[in-house]
Amino acid sequence: MKYGHFDDRNKEYIIQKPDTPYPWINYLGSEEFFGLISNTAGGYSFYKDASKRRLTRYRYNNVPTDAGGRYYYIYEKGEYFSPAWAPQKSNLDSYQCRHGLGYTIIESEKNLLKTEMKFFVPLGDNLEIHQIKIKNLSNEHRKIKLFSFLEFCLYDAEDDMTNFQRNFNTGEVEVDGSTIYHKTEYRERRNHYSFYTVNQEISGFDTDRESFLGLYNSFSNPDVLKTGESNNSIAHGWSPIGSHSLEIELNAGQEKEFIFQLGYIENKEEEKWESKGVINKNKAKKLISKYNSSDKVNKAFKKLSKHWEKLLSSFSIKHPDPKLERMVNIWNQYQNMVTYNLARSASYFESGISRGIGFRDSNQDLLGSAHMIPERVKKRIKDLASTQFEDGSAFHQYQPLTKKGNDKIGSGFNDDPLWLIFAVAAYIKETGDYEILKETVPFNNGKKATIFDHLEASFMHVVNNLGPHNLPLIGHADWNDCLNLSAFSEKPGESFQTVSNKDNSPAESVMIAGMFLTAGPDFVHLSRKMNKNKLAKKAEMALEEMKAAVNKYGRDDEWFVRAYDYYSKPLGTKDNKYAKIFIEPQGFCIMGGIGLKDGFAEKTLDSVNRKLNSEHGLMILDPTIKEYQINMGEVSSYPPGYKENGAIFCHNNPWIMIAETIIGNGERAFEYYSKIAPAYREDISKLHRTEPYVYAQMIAGKDAASFGEAKNSWLTGTAAWNFVAISQWMLGIRPDFDGLKIDPCIPAEWDEYTVIRKFRGCKFKINVKNPKNINKGVEKIFVDGKEIEGQLLKTHDKDESKVEVIMG
Ligand code: GLC
Ligand code: GLC
Repeated sequence: MKYGHFDDRNKEYIIQKPDTPYPWINYLGSEEFFGLISNTAGGYSFYKDASKRRLTRYRYNNVPTDAGGRYYYIYEKGEYFSPAWAPQKSNLDSYQCRHGLGYTIIESEKNLLKTEMKFFVPLGDNLEIHQIKIKNLSNEHRKIKLFSFLEFCLYDAEDDMTNFQRNFNTGEVEVDGSTIYHKTEYRERRNHYSFYTVNQEISGFDTDRESFLGLYNSFSNPDVLKTGESNNSIAHGWSPIGSHSLEIELNAGQEKEFIFQLGYIENKEEEKWESKGVINKNKAKKLISKYNSSDKVNKAFKKLSKHWEKLLSSFSIKHPDPKLERMVNIWNQYQNMVTYNLARSASYFESGISRGIGFRDSNQDLLGSAHMIPERVKKRIKDLASTQFEDGSAFHQYQPLTKKGNDKIGSGFNDDPLWLIFAVAAYIKETGDYEILKETVPFNNGKKATIFDHLEASFMHVVNNLGPHNLPLIGHADWNDCLNLSAFSEKPGESFQTVSNKDNSPAESVMIAGMFLTAGPDFVHLSRKMNKNKLAKKAEMALEEMKAAVNKYGRDDEWFVRAYDYYSKPLGTKDNKYAKIFIEPQGFCIMGGIGLKDGFAEKTLDSVNRKLNSEHGLMILDPTIKEYQINMGEVSSYPPGYKENGAIFCHNNPWIMIAETIIGNGERAFEYYSKIAPAYREDISKLHRTEPYVYAQMIAGKDAASFGEAKNSWLTGTAAWNFVAISQWMLGIRPDFDGLKIDPCIPAEWDEYTVIRKFRGCKFKINVKNPKNINKGVEKIFVDGKEIEGQLLKTHDKDESKVEVIMG
């Protein structure tokens, strides 16, 4: 069952029923001011950091769900409704929500009133615009009232939800004309406030929640809407809100437009006040006047559309399959930008409080955005590197406001260092900018280092931390945060993510070995580029030794072993009771080049197909773990079929897709791709539950009661990796150090497709023909009519080039 449809031309998903199987959200803003917005106007806004600078309040896991948002009510003759459906669950005559790139438009009709609400954050400024049009479709002159409502958060989102004995006393506001200023704690150490305004004279306002709602009401039946009269309340403590009321007269057929703005202002310490106790509003007024007319707002909106058009123009495909086109051209890249911007902080599954920017996560995310925003990616790489320790290990997370490593979680995830090599290599392959290697970014202890030094530290961290089988020590965990082989946790509630009860654990990870072999050759290449030939040799030797160790200890009969536990017993082998096979090492060992000559890669991928494939994608392990295993940790804490214990963990499926393309199996690679790509799952939206336009982290596996149900949409490394798998390995347009490699691996039935790829200043229009209907292999490539040797498009000074690729 579907709840809407894709509008590819406008790059929108149009939702036609408000009660989607879960709130289907979108993101506003891509610089400093952000908003999450659901299809019924739920969600919240924050400045830079969802944890420390939250501007509006939202109640996660509330009843009913999706509580808190940008709420509007229309009042007429004693009756009222919500044009966005929520919060009143109004019985609308028509409804649609269009989630687009950086904006959301909710349109509805009720009682012959047509409402359109457009929400977006303009580029370059810290505010959210709500552009609201109301049209009278009747033949009569009408007098209505429009009420706005949002609830301010007292900035620190966690404190806001817990510290009531203080917070019920601190709330303060000012009202000046049509603008409501939220200035809690501004009297003391804060130098920032937020405001909520409308570009028209108001007939009343409320800033105290209780006065607006009534203590025992919900958002759906506020007291003020019963009378249609605002109380002009001023909040003193308790819960400050912003609500305006506007008297609107509409002739038959007439439409009027209102622009609401929710903004964020910072003042210098010495410029905080206008007069005693009165905040300095100059900056706010300037900002407000920048967007206080339809013309100005429409212009800003156009600018935003252009911005997205430009970002997405770096990679696009023409292909007979519209689902593939919309994933590749629009939604996957869009999600990559969102994960780049927000890491794992704020979604409808991530509270915005618990996690900072992850070292592992963000290094992977940028694999999916380097082609769109190389300059920003470079900055991010430097931020990440600066949280690395001298020995190559890294803070697992850092806080975006301070850019400081997060002590609470610390380090010890031994896959972390290697992701930096993946990231820097991807950046250089995209841009050709080797200079980044020479840029200085000190280690966390302040010691001077270049980016190359960081990569060396990363590489050597693996070499210096080998276990009894010469495989990398896993430390606290590797990519699979839940494989906690040294935790041995018995205390209820203890965090698996931080506890480690066994010091000097000899537990080892075959997955890290596979990653090492995958990233290693790039490190060798970069060492040579830096004229560090001795180091390059040493690295090559380390890679050879790792290969030997994997071949000796990392193979079971028909697939790769996952790990060695604290007792040096293998995990992920046919002799284990549960979890005989894990997905992660299968992908990475093959990407790392193991088993390609002796048929073991094929055998492994057949095993994956036999054991892990399901109608909804590849499960992370099999058989699922039925009881808690103290020597395995969190993975066994999940009921079978959920999360790391046997769900379809969408993040790692692309590793298998890539491995399949390496052995030339385009059918299987694409089968796996289309099983989890959300656009292909649109018809089963009711089962899938989360948005059909973005990936979710997981889909419940076959042992779960809800097999096929997705959770944790939006902020997941799934986005970047699936884009890498489809664009670089299946469509085969792959940036490499010396040019753009063309190496498709596709289903045999595909006859032709065209990719437009902007690469190092040239727009390549690449037409791939598959006359013999094969999976892989390139017979000829012509660049601007001239046949070239090999499969590498070299950069040149032309602005545009036509490329013909004949497979064969
Ligand atoms: C989550 C984490 C990611 C981890 C994965 C597997 O997606 O964000 O860092 O690798 O789970 O445990
Ligand atoms: C839990 C999740 C895992 C995530 C980790 C991050 O362990 O299962 O997916 O990576 O938390 O904190």
